[in-house]
Amino acid sequence: MAARINWPPPPGGARAAANEAYAEPLAWLASVHREQLALCDCLEAIADSLPGEVDREICAYAAKMLAPMLRQFHAGEERIVFDWAEQRSGDDPSARALLERLKYEHCEDECFAEELTEMLDRLGTDDRTVNPETAGYMLRGFFTNLRRHVSFEQEYLRGIVARQTHDPS
Ligand SMILES: [Fe+2]
Repeated sequence: MAARINWPPPPGGARAAANEAYAEPLAWLASVHREQLALCDCLEAIADSLPGEVDREICAYAAKMLAPMLRQFHAGEERIVFDWAEQRSGDDPSARALLERLKYEHCEDECFAEELTEMLDRLGTDDRTVNPETAGYMLRGFFTNLRRHVSFEQEYLRGIVARQTHDPS
C-alpha cells in the first residue's frame, strides 16, 4: 500500500505574498524555498511509488498544479527578491551574472515542468503506455535540479546579506 502523498498547497494570495515579500525579502524567499522543497519531496514520493503503487489522483493534481506553482514562485523571486539583491550588489558584474544564471535556471525548470506535466497527466489517467523507468528518470531529474537550484540560490543571497553586514556602504 502506497503512503499517502500530500501535495503542498498553492501559494497564498498574490497581494499578501507580495506585501510580505517586499517587507522581508529573504524571509519570504525562505518560505517559498520550503514550499518548493516540499514539492520536490512529493515528486520523489511519486517516483518511489512507480510502477505499482502510483496514486493516480495525486499525479493528476500534480499535473494541474506543478507548472503554474513554479511560475508563480519564480515570478515572485525575480520581481521582488532578485531586484532587491541587484540593488545591494551595486555594479558588481559577478553578482549580475549570478542573477542572470538563476533566472536562466528558472526558465529551464519551467520548461522541464511543462514536459513533466504531460507525464504526470498520463500517470494520472492510468495510461499503461507510460514507461515507468522514463517517468522515474524525468521526476528524479526535475526534483534533483530544483533542490540544487534552491540550495545555490539560498547560499548566494545569504552571501549578499553577509557582505552588506560587513560593508553597508
Ligand atoms: Fe529560484
